[in-house]
Amino acid sequence: MPLSATAWVRKMRGGSQAHMIVAEDGHSYVVKCKQNAQHRRILVNEWAAGILLEHLGIPTAKPEIILLNDEFLSANSELKVVTGSHEKPVLPGWHFGSRVPVDPSRFVLYDYLPDALLSQVANLRDFLGALVFDKWVHNADSRQCVFFRAQIRHYSDAPATRKTGFVAMMMDHGYIFGGPEWKLEDTPVSGLYPRHLVYREVRGLDSFQPWLDLATNVPLSLLDTIGRSMPEWWLNGDRTELDKLLEGLWRRRARLPHLLEDMRNVRGNPFPNW
Ligand SMILES: Nc1ncnc2c1ncn2[C@@H]1O[C@H](COP(=O)(O)OP(=O)(O)OP(=O)(O)O)[C@@H](O)[C@H]1O
Ligand SMILES: [Mg+2]
Repeated sequence: MPLSATAWVRKMRGGSQAHMIVAEDGHSYVVKCKQNAQHRRILVNEWAAGILLEHLGIPTAKPEIILLNDEFLSANSELKVVTGSHEKPVLPGWHFGSRVPVDPSRFVLYDYLPDALLSQVANLRDFLGALVFDKWVHNADSRQCVFFRAQIRHYSDAPATRKTGFVAMMMDHGYIFGGPEWKLEDTPVSGLYPRHLVYREVRGLDSFQPWLDLATNVPLSLLDTIGRSMPEWWLNGDRTELDKLLEGLWRRRARLPHLLEDMRNVRGNPFPNW
């Protein structure tokens, strides 16, 4: 069921011109509108990523369908999309929202951490899972995440402890499937996190377990769920093309070991210990 937006908070940085809103469940969401500055298919990609990342057990922002109705849009004129001197209105309807993992009025979220803090992130290993995902779905963008302080037992195998520390949550999946082009290409450098220290534990393909097995053994029914669970409004007649794309994704699982090995040929090999 979609959640209605109840308050507009602010415009976010970034190419899609997303907006933070509060929804009826009291949580904050970063909303990408169907009329965003990138492409309608960005919403489809974000939705698919949410389903696949949940299967892989990689922490990501919870996806929700957010209703921006006429009344809300009229009361919040900041909610529009600007390209050059042209303003595109956001149409009332269902848009994509990714839940902000903490209350942003009380806790700080960071887009980047300096290396000294990055190396202490409790779930640093999740960057290896994210790389399996990014190669599989051909994320044409680099890996993006947000960092915040949380109880580390929710994000790592740490034994029962109430210790808090920095954790990473993966987000921004608008450019999986090669972005709006919906192409699964082999480009070794894409999907990498810009700070390669997150890959220092990689010693071989085994370092990418359990995610490699989880992706390889994904049930076909999960891929079916992707197309069936999102609003038809986002697809605009793209269903046949989406089905073709998902068939490609199904076949591509077998090539994951090769796609990962190929990254060792990237200039400045991101895996110094492999
Ligand atoms: N679920 C979330 N929780 C917290 N912050 C978020 C969330 N989603 C997005 N953000 C914040 O909003 C910003 C914009 O989001 P995102 O990167 O997804 O948008 P974009 O327009 O695709 O950006 P880009 O220019 O990278 O393509 C991010 O840099 C991040 O700070
Ligand atoms: Mg981004």
